[in-house]
Amino acid sequence: MTEHEDAREPVVVLGGTGRVGAAVVDELTRRGRQAVVVSRGRPPSRGPLVEHRTGDVHDLAPALAGTRPRAVVLAVTPFTAPPADLDGFDGDFYVRVVDQLASLLPLGARVVHVGVTAIARLDDGGAVADHEDLFPASLRPFSDAHARGAEALREAPLDGTVLIPAAGLGMQDATSDAHPVLLPEPLTIADATAPVDHAVLARAVVDQLDVAGSDQRWLVRAPGLPLQVSD
Ligand SMILES: NC(=O)c1ccc[n+]([C@@H]2O[C@H](COP(=O)([O-])OP(=O)(O)OC[C@H]3O[C@@H](n4cnc5c(N)ncnc54)[C@H](OP(=O)(O)O)[C@@H]3O)[C@@H](O)[C@H]2O)c1
Repeated sequence: MTEHEDAREPVVVLGGTGRVGAAVVDELTRRGRQAVVVSRGRPPSRGPLVEHRTGDVHDLAPALAGTRPRAVVLAVTPFTAPPADLDGFDGDFYVRVVDQLASLLPLGARVVHVGVTAIARLDDGGAVADHEDLFPASLRPFSDAHARGAEALREAPLDGTVLIPAAGLGMQDATSDAHPVLLPEPLTIADATAPVDHAVLARAVVDQLDVAGSDQRWLVRAPGLPLQVSD
């Protein structure tokens, strides 16, 4: 995609009013790019570069009507905080979103999916979700839903990349101007549990929009020392 096309082509940010999505929208507009934010709630105006469309990821067609976006950020979660239980949670939540994107977007459209640390594959042969000291077993269905969504994206006729935030997301300075560090799996526990702030994660997401990267998964962490992992 050329710079000229960048300026004309809005990036669709699903969940663009959330903590991660809003940081992505801020980073897009900081770079002079347009964003179309899709969420159920209507946020205050974010300026001339940002259009808000009220919509639900369970049925994206109305919100995307009249557009054929070539770049989409998926930053949606049904749980803004860890729920007491996952009764009634649809384990195919993310698969259904990816399936809709595959049918609504042009072939090969770029999709950057913000995943969850729990799906990260570790150098001990397991995933973060296998470590109960790092991720509560009760939330496993949520992690599995993310993992299935990532797999669906890999198989979809889209140019998909999953960015997995390190477990320390939001645990340090929220306005850091550090450059993100992207690491391939398998990962050390120290890297998987490292800090990363929302601005750094957002920088990684926006960087990835213009990089062809089908089937890739990266852990995103801030540079520097890892957090101390408690026993
Ligand atoms: N360390 C980690 O691994 C880590 C930590 C935090 C987040 N994450 C991941 O980052 C992503 C974003 O999380 P976040 O913290 O930014 O969440 P958040 O602050 O709760 O924001 C969620 C966003 O999704 C939207 N949304 C929720 N349900 C929707 C629906 N049915 N249709 C349309 N929009 C919907 C919300 O807006 P409305 O409610 O108005 O629709 C909001 O914009 C998620 O994939 C999450 O798992 C990972």
